Amino acid sequence: MRKQIVAGNWKMNTTFSDGAELIKQIILKTDSVKNTQLIIAPPFILTSEAGKLTSNTKIEVSGQNCSNQAKGAFTGEVSAEMLKSAGANHVILGHSERRAYYLETNGLINEKIKISLENNLTPIVCCGEVLDERENNEHFEVVSKQIKGMFYGINAEDFKNIIIAYEPVWAIGTGKTATPIQAQEMHKFIRETIMNSYGSEIAENLSILYGGSCKPSNAKELFANPDVDGGLIGGASLSADDFIAIANSF
Ligand code: PGA
Repeated sequence: MRKQIVAGNWKMNTTFSDGAELIKQIILKTDSVKNTQLIIAPPFILTSEAGKLTSNTKIEVSGQNCSNQAKGAFTGEVSAEMLKSAGANHVILGHSERRAYYLETNGLINEKIKISLENNLTPIVCCGEVLDERENNEHFEVVSKQIKGMFYGINAEDFKNIIIAYEPVWAIGTGKTATPIQAQEMHKFIRETIMNSYGSEIAENLSILYGGSCKPSNAKELFANPDVDGGLIGGASLSADDFIAIANSF
């Protein structure tokens, strides 16, 4: 049985004290959440605090990125090992904002996936097309190419520890959400693509999250689809009430 997961990507939001307060608010509301894995990805300055506050709770901690390098003279970078040592067990990789603003390529993301797995971090690997690509009907081709590039050299055993997030770039932070039909057809396509390379057991157990303006008012219809196993939530994850309402939308 694959896991239902709701992960909050806080992006570059909250100060240390605001963030710690938000974590405490979320913890207070988790009792209502039954069969859903909750993950929060606060900014790096909060990773360790989040790790401490959430120990003995249902919440797991994720980084929003990590370096492709193990250690050394890489000013400003944070390694997978550092994240793990601070209390994270997941890391978001290949987010479209990293691709667009920091020019991350599928090859670089591939290196980051490998180093995360070596450090026992579960990568939440993002894929998704921009608006032009969807309008030109290239979205399946784009996502297929991203998957091939990002997972090059990743084996079936590794895949037991990987989560994929489909995030159509035109839906991120725009208020425009993919329709349940658009989400389902892409999630099914992603699962079939993984099945072709890794077999049906791996594909069936893979959690594929939807991201892009997911909120309490649309989560239910998105999560009702057979291949949508939860969400990667940006804006709405900054409200404890909304985040928990989304987690209760299965
Ligand atoms: P959004 O962001 O929910 O604010 O659209 C989702 C994401 O970028 O992960």
